[in-house]
Amino acid sequence: MKIRKAVIPAAGLGTRVLPASKACPKELLPIVDKPAIQYIVEEAVASGITDILIILSRGKSMVADHFDRNLELEEKLESIGKNNIAEEMKAISKLANIQYIRQTEMKGLGHAISCAKPFVGDEPFAVLYGDDVIFSDTIPACKELCDAYEKYGKGVVGAKAVPQEHIGRYGSLKAEPLEENFYSVSDMIEKPAPGKEFSLYSIMGRCVLPSKIFDLLENLPAGAGGEIQLTDAMKKLAQTEGMIGVEYHGKRYDMGNKLGILQANIEIGLKHPEIGPEFRQYLKNLAQFL
Ligand code: UTP
Repeated sequence: MKIRKAVIPAAGLGTRVLPASKACPKELLPIVDKPAIQYIVEEAVASGITDILIILSRGKSMVADHFDRNLELEEKLESIGKNNIAEEMKAISKLANIQYIRQTEMKGLGHAISCAKPFVGDEPFAVLYGDDVIFSDTIPACKELCDAYEKYGKGVVGAKAVPQEHIGRYGSLKAEPLEENFYSVSDMIEKPAPGKEFSLYSIMGRCVLPSKIFDLLENLPAGAGGEIQLTDAMKKLAQTEGMIGVEYHGKRYDMGNKLGILQANIEIGLKHPEIGPEFRQYLKNLAQFL
């Protein structure tokens, strides 16, 4: 079944990037000149997604403003002959059919996803974590996962191997190689204590899930960090019918983390058509003094 719906949870408090996220949603923090969440919506659209639900919370309405028209701005740009930029601004509001819902209490990622039940209905759907930006020169990560769902007919998680010392930050996967960059996943654990991990392969920012995940999320007790964890619901799915892990080709940047924000800005800045060459020269000069 073709995946056409996606959910982007973006309601979290962003406590790791305060004070930047105090008034500005961390999902709007820029990578050079574009907010993180726009890259994520563009990845979804490039993957064939037509309908997107963004999960927001109090104080995060600016995300909806970003994907809305700004007529005053467009008129001003046109009046001063900046028609290309005006068109670029209009195009943002036409990327996809984007809807919004508010998570009234931030009880965790699993709870945020359960808010998407009326939007999703009975279809399988993609989840793109609102602070994980993934760049790919080839196939978008979300598309790799959607293709895997269509091929195997099972829930899919995006996976990357992480350094041993970071294993407790993510969901660790019990994964056996299947073919190419695909793994068979039979179990998982969120934020494992040292020694409790299944492997270094960890859930990384994307998944494609069947609608039965909503039943599994219902009445789920709080897990790691006292939050309702999506991993705990996916664990049940993995244990009963198995899931697929896809080691996607793109590179992930954690925009919910100070170092991730800097890495994304430097690496994407170097590739930026307008400022890339000048920025490269600047970094080379700077590096002499490091
Ligand atoms: P994170 O755990 O990275 O986000 O969740 P957070 O809670 O904002 O992080 P910190 O620890 O306080 O810095 C991954 C994604 O899930 C969303 C977040 O907005 C982020 O995009 N999320 C998290 C929700 O939508 N609701 C929640 O209750 C928790």
